[in-house]
Amino acid sequence: MHVVVNAATSADGKLSTREREQIEISGPDDFDRVDELRADSDAVMVGVGTVVADDPSLTIDDPDLQAERRERGDPPHPARVVADSRIRTPPDARVLDETAESYLLVSDAAPGDFVSQMEEGGATVITAGDQRVDLAEAFEKLESEGIDQLMVEGGGELIFSLFEAGLVDELSVFVGPTVIGGREAPTLADGEGFVEEFPALTLEHVERIDDGVLLQYVVD
Ligand SMILES: NC(=O)c1ccc[n+]([C@@H]2O[C@H](COP(=O)([O-])OP(=O)(O)OC[C@H]3O[C@@H](n4cnc5c(N)ncnc54)[C@H](OP(=O)(O)O)[C@@H]3O)[C@@H](O)[C@H]2O)c1
Repeated sequence: MHVVVNAATSADGKLSTREREQIEISGPDDFDRVDELRADSDAVMVGVGTVVADDPSLTIDDPDLQAERRERGDPPHPARVVADSRIRTPPDARVLDETAESYLLVSDAAPGDFVSQMEEGGATVITAGDQRVDLAEAFEKLESEGIDQLMVEGGGELIFSLFEAGLVDELSVFVGPTVIGGREAPTLADGEGFVEEFPALTLEHVERIDDGVLLQYVVD
């Protein structure tokens, strides 16, 4: 599976405020770029922290992009994938609505009645890992469901884990013209942090978009 992480940060590397409140970092042109990236993906993934904070739909906005997907035999929107070890995703979350397919990656610690509730609601539940989702194992199972191109939109906890597991192929960061600050504010990669063997990136593309800059890396 090919995994592209895409996120927008402030100039000081924050994903959102210390209250985990999403602010507008990108402009309209970057928004269109993200819509295209979603349209090129089989699935779009977030961590449950992002679902709880933002309740994103992760669907494609542009009707033309939806039509292009239909023309090539794909559903109009990519599937949505949430890493959610114990099922904290609210049943009325937008990622679970009927607009597109939904996958919940859970661990063995997920309560059985929550799993049944999600399955009855139409989501596909994939179990991998003991206490927390084993991302490598879960990705193998996603691949067997036909997901070859995966876009990950955050947040910082999930992105760090993906780098730690060596599962990221490309990283795109839009750095917007603002400062959020706050030592508790989520950054692009949170988790425990690396103290050695830092992932190495090769810068492939730099572009000014809106009033910010897009940095595109491949992971070595
Ligand atoms: N600017 C942007 O582009 C952007 C994009 C997305 C999000 N955000 C912001 O980011 C913030 C949310 O980020 P976040 O770091 O709190 O949450 P997150 O990365 O979205 O979700 C983290 C949660 O995912 C679950 N998870 C399951 N398996 C995991 C694994 N193997 N590794 C890591 N996490 C795993 C964990 O909860 P369990 O232990 O319960 O499973 C973990 O707490 C929000 O404020 C949102 O607004 C910004």
